[in-house]
Amino acid sequence: MASNSFSSEFGTTSSHNEEGSVVRVQQSTGLSGTVRVSGAKNSVLKIMAASLLAPGQYVLNNVPHIADVKWMANLLETMGASISHQKDVMQIEIPEEMTPIAPYELVERMRASIVVLGPLLARFGKAKVSVPGGDDFGHRPIDMHLKGLEELGVSFTNSHGYIEGEVKKLVGGKVLLNFPSVGATENLLMAAVLAEGITVIENAAREPEIVDLVYFLNSMGAQITGEGTSTIQIEGVGHLSPVEHTVIPDRIEAATYIAALGMAGGQIVIEEARLEHMEMLAEKLHEMGIEIGQVDGGISVCVSKRLRSVDLATLPYPGVATDYKPFIVALLSISDGVGIVTENIFAGRFRYVDELIRMGADIRAEGHHAVVRGVERLSGAPVRAPDIRAGAALVLAGLAAEGETLVGAASHIERGYQNLVGNLSSLGAKIELVNHQSI
Ligand code: EPU
Repeated sequence: MASNSFSSEFGTTSSHNEEGSVVRVQQSTGLSGTVRVSGAKNSVLKIMAASLLAPGQYVLNNVPHIADVKWMANLLETMGASISHQKDVMQIEIPEEMTPIAPYELVERMRASIVVLGPLLARFGKAKVSVPGGDDFGHRPIDMHLKGLEELGVSFTNSHGYIEGEVKKLVGGKVLLNFPSVGATENLLMAAVLAEGITVIENAAREPEIVDLVYFLNSMGAQITGEGTSTIQIEGVGHLSPVEHTVIPDRIEAATYIAALGMAGGQIVIEEARLEHMEMLAEKLHEMGIEIGQVDGGISVCVSKRLRSVDLATLPYPGVATDYKPFIVALLSISDGVGIVTENIFAGRFRYVDELIRMGADIRAEGHHAVVRGVERLSGAPVRAPDIRAGAALVLAGLAAEGETLVGAASHIERGYQNLVGNLSSLGAKIELVNHQSI
């Protein structure tokens, strides 16, 4: 099978360096038109990892051309898989024999690689995975992943930056997570599907991406119930088979376009977006003055006046996701009034605030909280994208800023968006991707 190929839609991925591209944004008003969201990054990465559970040929539809998908494909290929990715269809061929090792070079690039641990242990009884470090959100431990897998019988050793797990036969058990961690829930699900007996995960994560993963696993032959609630029960089976699956739409990408409208005003339709995956967010945005409604095949969004500030706290699903927060902070920075934002998931996830301040925002961030006083206008400036969502938020801020904003380190944005710049441009935003040499 052909190896992983990336089309020009993705453009800059393989050859450009981390600092290479820059998004140039000019103040824009009155967006209009239709935009379509891609498949969910945080769903497809885990579904790709889950394919390790059974040999054979998988077909995944609605797979975005983003850097994180490329890294996960590279990781599976390193272990022996063959992968092709044409348009939005990915074909994965998983062989009988594989090398259950996730090397440092790939885990270091994408910490979501840790989700191969569960499926590798389930299929091969052993796995060696580089320990993911912290990142721009701060300290990001994996203790819950390991403790949960130990409950199923795995023994771990940790040396030279790698965690090595071994188990003769996984045996189901009760796992109580002390926080509904998305990654730990996923690793446990993918281990428990082939364990002997029943596993119950209490305080499980409830995100739509978890539900999508369970749907995929059940269609492979797993016996899982309770997905979307905080108690998930898995009855282990002896055998799973490869399947075809269509990935759910990306709710975070949808939220990005809603927030773009909040910054620039106008009226748009976001195709594929599902309001039922973002109800709490929609309620908050409605309070701020953004009109959002379900239409055939997507959602419509309309913004006709200056937004009102609200207070907001991030929470595990169904609460307002931490990934939406940078967009909301950008919105609050130009809204009428003062908003207090509390981050309950990642304490260090306010690092982009200094960049917004460089653009004239009035924000005080300390620990888990930020106080955002809305200003009349932002002012364009060169800034740097610290991570995917914060990078997107800076692009959004550029839509409302007088003059020109240059968002550097835009490769961070490309990790999670197939075509953010092209899509915003098609809605009428004055935006382009440039190489920093040409500025
Ligand atoms: N945590 C622990 N121990 C663990 C695991 C998590 O203390 O063993 C803590 C984390 O440090 C954090 C909290 O639990 O404070 C929640 O972390 P979680 O495990 O839920 O997050 P994750 O699985 O590492 C995923 C998404 C993130 C998203 C979070 C929260 C993927 C690839 N990543 O991360 O998305 O912010 O859930 O919803 O699914 C993004 O898309 O850019 C992104 C960062």
